[in-house]
Amino acid sequence: MLSERLKNITPSVTVGISSKVKDMKASGIDVIGLSIGEPDFNVPEKAKEYGKRSLDENKTKYDLVGGILELREEICKKLLKENKVNYTPDQIVLSSGAKNSITNVLLALTNPGDEVLLPLPYWVSYSEIIKVTNAVPVEIQTKKENNFKLQKEELLAAITDKTKLIVITNPSNPTGSVYTKEELEEIASVCLEKGIYIIADEIYEKITFTENFTSVAALNEEIKDITITINGFAKCAAMTGLRLGYTASNSEIANAMCSIQSHIVSHPSLTAQYIGLGALVECEDEMQHMVDTYKKRCELITNRLDKIENIGYVKPSGAFYIFVDLSKVKENYEYTDSFSIKFCEDFLNAEKVAVVPGKSFGIDEYIRISYACDEESFLEGVNRLERYISKFI
Ligand SMILES: Cc1ncc(COP(=O)(O)O)c(C=O)c1O
Repeated sequence: MLSERLKNITPSVTVGISSKVKDMKASGIDVIGLSIGEPDFNVPEKAKEYGKRSLDENKTKYDLVGGILELREEICKKLLKENKVNYTPDQIVLSSGAKNSITNVLLALTNPGDEVLLPLPYWVSYSEIIKVTNAVPVEIQTKKENNFKLQKEELLAAITDKTKLIVITNPSNPTGSVYTKEELEEIASVCLEKGIYIIADEIYEKITFTENFTSVAALNEEIKDITITINGFAKCAAMTGLRLGYTASNSEIANAMCSIQSHIVSHPSLTAQYIGLGALVECEDEMQHMVDTYKKRCELITNRLDKIENIGYVKPSGAFYIFVDLSKVKENYEYTDSFSIKFCEDFLNAEKVAVVPGKSFGIDEYIRISYACDEESFLEGVNRLERYISKFI
């Protein structure tokens, strides 16, 4: 009865774990939730004011499909100032979250059967959105010793005559790795030569702990033309539930996405757009404070993990996750199908700490810990992890 496209789609593991944590908390169990990629900050007050004012002024009618002009202009200013890329407002398409933006790109660019390259480990929803749109996700193995960053040779080996797109997540979820300009140049030059479009998911771009973040589209004009940058307000302005994302692309792709979006959602909620506008215009300091806090937390959690023997992790340069290597634990752990799924279930039941199995990002001997929460919680979570794994090493 249901559509064929549902056959291979699995519900989001991270959303599933957070629902379980909510249920456990509701039944009085004291759980430490380190699974969700959601900032523990509130939307900055000055940004909220923009939303409240827009409602008072009855800005609640249908508006432009690509998003309100003031916000698209402000995004162009931000892209020029921070990312050193020049776009015009007609090249920006606002949507109801980065997930929605990624879907728009895939609907606009792929035909059924087209291949979309996903370097492992990758954020859980890409493969499922790709399948929903009837394209084909193709995983590319990357190496631990390169911090799981894609290398030119690995990319070249994965390209076929069906390859249409590649997704580069920078900073990465789940590893927090950030590509250097040179690394991006190597990958993007191959894409240019082979005629492959690049989805550059830069939603964590503001949360970087290195000085020199490079946007893929900033590399050169030709690369900019084949790149669709994904960004949004969920992570940098703590606006997860307000659902606001955007793309920056060439005008042809932007027009195609607007055409699709006009029939599906028209445009994202106007109130969310005004709050996003407020965040960009008024809340630079608040957003910087969030980044500084994540940086401090990153130091705290990595210092603590350094004291635990027999585990490793990818040193993060951005986002708010640590990808922890439990391969030594795996050697002595009893499981049938997936080590990390079994480990995370057992760890949640035994120690009441929720983390995400690496399997959901395509790498089974790892788990992902989110430190988008107060330091007491994640440090206690790591204490319990140390206690739990000591039984298996
Ligand atoms: C890499 C990446 N892209 C996109 C998203 C989705 O963002 P949004 O909430 O704006 O849809 C997430 C959320 O976790 C993410 O980690």
